[in-house]
Amino acid sequence: MEPKKADAAAIAEAVQLLRQGLLVAFPTETVYGLGADASNALAVQGIFAAKGRPADHPLIVHIAEAAMLDDWAVHVPTVARQLAARFWPGPLALVLRKRAAVPAVVTGGQETVALRVPGHPVALQLLHAFGGGIAAPSANRFCRISPTQAAHVAEELGAAVAMILDGGPCQVGVESTIVDLSGMRPRLLRPGHIGVAELEALLQQPLLVPESLDTDIRAPGMMAVHYAPKTQAVCCPSALLSGQVRALLDSGRRVGVLAYQHGLPDNANLHVVPMPASAEGYAQSLYASLRALDALQLTCIFVESPPQTEAWRAVNDRLGKATVPLAAV
Ligand code: TXA
Ligand code: MG
Repeated sequence: MEPKKADAAAIAEAVQLLRQGLLVAFPTETVYGLGADASNALAVQGIFAAKGRPADHPLIVHIAEAAMLDDWAVHVPTVARQLAARFWPGPLALVLRKRAAVPAVVTGGQETVALRVPGHPVALQLLHAFGGGIAAPSANRFCRISPTQAAHVAEELGAAVAMILDGGPCQVGVESTIVDLSGMRPRLLRPGHIGVAELEALLQQPLLVPESLDTDIRAPGMMAVHYAPKTQAVCCPSALLSGQVRALLDSGRRVGVLAYQHGLPDNANLHVVPMPASAEGYAQSLYASLRALDALQLTCIFVESPPQTEAWRAVNDRLGKATVPLAAV
């Protein structure tokens, strides 16, 4: 399935396909989603089959606007409406108590549902034209890297989808921030572009944040190993990088490096991808860079550890899932 430029005709066609219960991949500002009519349990089952995803991993329901929250959720707290007003359309998903009518297949059998209004013009046009909710996980096979370009979706899921809408490369590049508002206190389930400080400023109370985002299992689908390239990927402190790379090169291996600041000379056996210095820039190109290195059939990909600061929380969380620490090799 070749991606289709997301013009008005393609979006109208995508709406028809969704109404028929088929799968449509579409761009969001974070990553590409694999969409199905969220009110059609059979269509949503198709998502799990296409991804090879276990049935107990709940999906995010995408909606056109915050006013549709009440179509999917009950007991919506005021803070949910405030967060929606401030950050939607945008890279934030809210977990709320679900309406009884929400199909169990969407929520993995849970009593809560994740909702988000995505901040991408194509996604918004599609949602407005469709009218209902679109359940969509990232459009990758289970445990693989999320797609940030239409071509990534075509490579991995091309045969399983009725259409791939091409809206260009994703601007944010990592999946949305997820905040659980279904309990007594707001809880961060997945870090993303919208950071803890920004959320807390609006919530006016501390957000419960898992201490170790790398290893804690906080929600179904949030496992320690996830989003991984096929090539062994190792997170490596800057100071140790040269030595590690040299040792492998000396034994005739081919090595890739996602370099944060390290100036390593490229050669036939060494493929260096220099990464942007800002957390936003790094996040934007992270998955495409990992995919590019993964395609080269290397022995190992070294990821030079970026800063361990709050601004880098989402990047470090994804790197924690895509790589093993050097000590573990
Ligand atoms: O940026 C994104 O959120 C992208 C784009 C396509 O919107 N979607 C995405 O979907 O990342 P997915 O399925 O790859 O990740 C959804 C995450 C999973 O970790 C899942 O466990 C969590 O959301 N989730 C969904 N519903 C939930 C619920 N009711 N309670 C707790 N976690 C939930
Ligand atoms: Mg995913």
